[in-house]
Amino acid sequence: MESPKNRNIILIGFMGTGKSTVGQAIAETLNYQFVDTDALVEKKAGCAISEIFASQGEAHFRQLEHEVIKEILQNERLVVSTGGGSVLREDNCAVMLANGQVIALTADTDHIIQRVSQDPNRPLLQGNVEERVHTLMAQRKDAYQFADVTIDTTGVPVENIVRTIHEHH
Ligand code: S3P
Repeated sequence: MESPKNRNIILIGFMGTGKSTVGQAIAETLNYQFVDTDALVEKKAGCAISEIFASQGEAHFRQLEHEVIKEILQNERLVVSTGGGSVLREDNCAVMLANGQVIALTADTDHIIQRVSQDPNRPLLQGNVEERVHTLMAQRKDAYQFADVTIDTTGVPVENIVRTIHEHH
């Protein structure tokens, strides 16, 4: 029987590690469908992630995110870009491991700060962005380690990252 690891590619990693950019590129080369769990949560809620956090709180967002991950991973031939905090729920990690190859993208803190500063819409990074990134990275330092493969994206061209993922898939 075909291994469940071949069903899908699931990208995890902290905000700003390049999950969406890399995910879209790898989906194109493999002829898989690209899906972004943040976009699916917004569709389900009918509003932006920042509005979900503001009106219903983080716990409600996490519940929607969990439902989306469970639902979407019933499919095959997907490249799934997940929200950086999705790994905080163990049941999400278990569903990911059971339904695809989990690839963690990492990057240097400075690189992450530079990338996320270009997109001010993330509710968990309001206020002093540098401080927030340092705090959250420290809290989550072990959260991405369950991945099947880990790839450092710092300064690496997207096509090289895509090639590395190909080698593992
Ligand atoms: C979050 C990351 C975001 C989004 C939400 C919360 C997090 O996704 O899900 O703002 O907790 O790290 P990206 O990692 O795609 O930015």
